[in-house]
Amino acid sequence: MSSLDGTVLVTGGAGYIGSHTVRALREAGRDVVVYDSLELGRREAVIDAPLVIGNIADSDLVTATCNEHGVTQLVHFAAYKAVGESMKSPAKYWRNNVAGSVELYEACLAAGVHDVVFSSSCSVNGTPAAVPVSEDAPIHPESVYAESKAMVERILHWCGQTTPLRSVALRYFNAAGASFDARIGEDWTYSQNLVPLAMKALLLGNPRLTVFGNDYDTPDGTCIRDYIHVDDLADAHVRALDYLGSGGDTTVLNIGTGVGSSVLEVLEATARAAGEDVPHDIMDRRPGDPVITYADASLANATLGWRARYGLIEIIDSAYAWHRQQVDRSLPRESQES
Ligand code: WQD
Repeated sequence: MSSLDGTVLVTGGAGYIGSHTVRALREAGRDVVVYDSLELGRREAVIDAPLVIGNIADSDLVTATCNEHGVTQLVHFAAYKAVGESMKSPAKYWRNNVAGSVELYEACLAAGVHDVVFSSSCSVNGTPAAVPVSEDAPIHPESVYAESKAMVERILHWCGQTTPLRSVALRYFNAAGASFDARIGEDWTYSQNLVPLAMKALLLGNPRLTVFGNDYDTPDGTCIRDYIHVDDLADAHVRALDYLGSGGDTTVLNIGTGVGSSVLEVLEATARAAGEDVPHDIMDRRPGDPVITYADASLANATLGWRARYGLIEIIDSAYAWHRQQVDRSLPRESQES
């Protein structure tokens, strides 16, 4: 039996990228079991898959879940991801993101699960010396969060040398957007990322968006990033599992569009989607922000046949539709009707 015939265990499957990936896997005909602590994930985001509530370091529960559901492949999202918090509470990141991953991989290996897709991050490269950034760019994490991802990449490399475990680490660029039916999307409650904060400023008016600097050496003076639609990210995970199930070896792949967009371009696209401007103030630069980064994703294309299908317009339109609907739903009925 091929590992592609069994069930996919998705840790963090109730989270933002996880829930979109679960949906993509179900649409691809895969059986899925979601494993999530629900500390940050949302039960309602899990569509059409069973949910096991637990911590990745709970080896007994991971083993029992693998055995009960016939798990043959793992997609591992569950992690803390707030860069600022990681500098204030580093132990939380080492414990959960690094040590928790080791426990998870051990439990999976013991249960005969050898195919692992891991959520990594373009932040492992820090401020890139050259763009587009390729996978062989120097590893230079500039936060505890980024270092935790780089460490797990190295652990996976050594798992590949010393155990039957084979992995694909996907280095995400700036994940954004929502499902096109507005059924799932990003929770803006804790997010510090540009797109959800711009939506919050637009739809709630408060807080206004702070633009971190407009005096950079870029065409409009603001920083440039590679925004990648969450459904394109989800598709990369489905393909990475196919690759591993077909005998693919351990690798690391950039997942981005290869196109850079400035902060002001994101705000322009948001204003176009909403028909009104995002309330914002130009403030000082944010320490540690790379000026320009975008992906060379050609290796993902060559290895997985993957390429991004969507650009900034689809990202912003889908994010706007999702957040607009969330706001509308939270209003009392009278104010919806007035
Ligand atoms: C994007 C741009 C800001 C907020 C983060 C993580 C990184 C990776 C991707 C995954 C920058 C500007 C932002 C605001 C602003 N993720 N900005 N005002 O920092 O590129 O990367 O997500 O692992 O690890 O650090 O994303 O959304 O914070 O910023 O002007 O209030 O928007 O300066 O140019 P970033 P971001």
